[in-house]
Amino acid sequence: MPDHFISFPKNFIWGSATSAFQIEGSPLADGAAKSNWYEWTHTPGRIKNGDTADVAIDHYRLYKNDVAIMKQMGLKSYRFSISWPRIIPERGKVNQKGLDFYRSLIQELLSAGIMPNITLFHWEVPVWAEGGWENRETALAFQEYAEVLFKAFGNEVPFWATMNEPSIVSGHGFLQAYFPPGKKDKTLFAKAVHHLNLGHALAVQSFRKMNLKGQIGLVLAIFPFKSRDGNPEDEKYAQKMFDLHNGVFLNPSVGRPYPPFFFEFTGENQADYEKDYSLFNQPLDFLGVNHYNPSFAKYVKDLNIWENDGKPIDGMPTNELGWPVSPTALYDLLMFLWKEYRHKQIIITENGYPQLTSNHTLEELLEDDARVHYYGTYMEQAQKAIRAGVPLTGYYPWSLFDNFEWCEGNNPRFGLIHVDYKTLKRTFKKSAHWYQKVIAQNGFDLGLLPKNPNYPIYHDKPKA
Ligand code: FCB
Repeated sequence: MPDHFISFPKNFIWGSATSAFQIEGSPLADGAAKSNWYEWTHTPGRIKNGDTADVAIDHYRLYKNDVAIMKQMGLKSYRFSISWPRIIPERGKVNQKGLDFYRSLIQELLSAGIMPNITLFHWEVPVWAEGGWENRETALAFQEYAEVLFKAFGNEVPFWATMNEPSIVSGHGFLQAYFPPGKKDKTLFAKAVHHLNLGHALAVQSFRKMNLKGQIGLVLAIFPFKSRDGNPEDEKYAQKMFDLHNGVFLNPSVGRPYPPFFFEFTGENQADYEKDYSLFNQPLDFLGVNHYNPSFAKYVKDLNIWENDGKPIDGMPTNELGWPVSPTALYDLLMFLWKEYRHKQIIITENGYPQLTSNHTLEELLEDDARVHYYGTYMEQAQKAIRAGVPLTGYYPWSLFDNFEWCEGNNPRFGLIHVDYKTLKRTFKKSAHWYQKVIAQNGFDLGLLPKNPNYPIYHDKPKA
C-alpha cells in the first residue's frame, strides 16, 4: 500500500444513511396516519419551491431495487428510519401493513448481508400525538411505539437508535419556527427538550427489559461552537450555545444533569425537571454523531439558540448551502466527545456534502469531485481519531440517495447516488464509485483525491 493509504480497522462498519420521510414517498399509503411533516409540507410557504415529499424517491415502492443497489455498492450496513405514523395509526393500535413494509425491507437487507441500523424517530410525529413533544404524553406514546418495533424486529436488527437529532427538533420547532410545530417559545422549547430526553430514555429502558441482542444508542447533531474571533465574550457565548444545543442532550445521555444555562435561558424551575433524572440514567451502547460543520458564534445580546451569527470565517471553504468545510473540526470533536463523555462506542451516523441542483448541469452533479474530496478529507480525520484511541466503529455518509431536504425541498442533493426526480432513475455519481472502492479496500489513497474540489469560498463582503 502507498504511504498515503488511509486504512481502517478490520470490521469497520461502512454504511450509508437515509430517513423515511426523505425517501419513501406514499406518506398516507396502507393505513398510515398523517404526520406533522406531512402537514408542514402541505402548508403553503413552509417548503422552498412548494416541494413536497409525496413521492420523494419512491423508495416505498422501489425498496427492493434500492437494496440491490446497496449490495452492489458493498455496504456493510444501512441506516434508515421507521415512520412512526405508518406503524401506529392511532394511539393503542398497530398497523400491520406498516410493519409488513419494514419487515420486508429488513429481510431484503439481511439476505443481502447488510446490517440494518434503525432510527425510531427521524422527525415524523403522528398528528394524533397532540402537541407533539411539548406534551409529556408524547414521550409515553413513543415508548409504546418503540416496544412494538422491538417486539417485531428486536432480535434481527443489530443496531437501533431511538432518535435522530433531538436538538434540531426542539430548536427549529420551538425556538425558530422553521420546523413544525412552528413555535417560538422558550418554555415550550424546554418542555420539548425534556420530553425528547424522556422518550429516548423510556425506549432504552424497554429495550433493556426485553433483553434484546442488538445495541441501542442515540443520534445527536453535534456542532462544535467556536468563537469567531477569539474574544472572551464570544468564547463565553460559544459555551452557552454548546450547552443549549448539545449539552442538553449529551449530559442526560451519560446520566448528568442539564447544564445550568438551560434553566437560566428558559427560566424554568429546575426542580420540575430533576424528578426525571433517575430515569435518564440509561447507559448507551453507542453515541451516533451527525456532523457536517463547525459553527462560529458571535455574541449577541438576547441569545437565541438558532439566531446567532453562525457565519463562516472570511475566506473559508463552504458547501453550497454555506456550511463551513473543516475536516479537522471532526477530529477535534471526536477527541472532545470521547474525553468528556466517555461513551463506550461512537459511530458517525451522518456526514456529507450537498450540491444545489440549481447550480449545476447533470454532468456536474454526477462528476462530484467536491463530494469525493469532502469525504476523503473527513474520513482521514476520522481515522486519525481512531489511531488516537477514539472507539469509533462506523461511518455512514449522508446520504445514499439524493432526497427531500426538509424545508429546503429538493434543490440540495446530498446523495452518493443521483436520483432523477422525474423518472426516478438512480445513477452512481463519481462519489458512489469512489465509496464502493473504499469499502472494498477498507480505506483509500489520500494521494488520489481530486486535486481541485472547487468549494465555494465564503466572503464577509461580496467581492466587488
Ligand atoms: C441532518 C438530518 C438529515 C439531513 C441532513 C442534511 O440534520 O438528520 O435528515 O437532512 O441533516
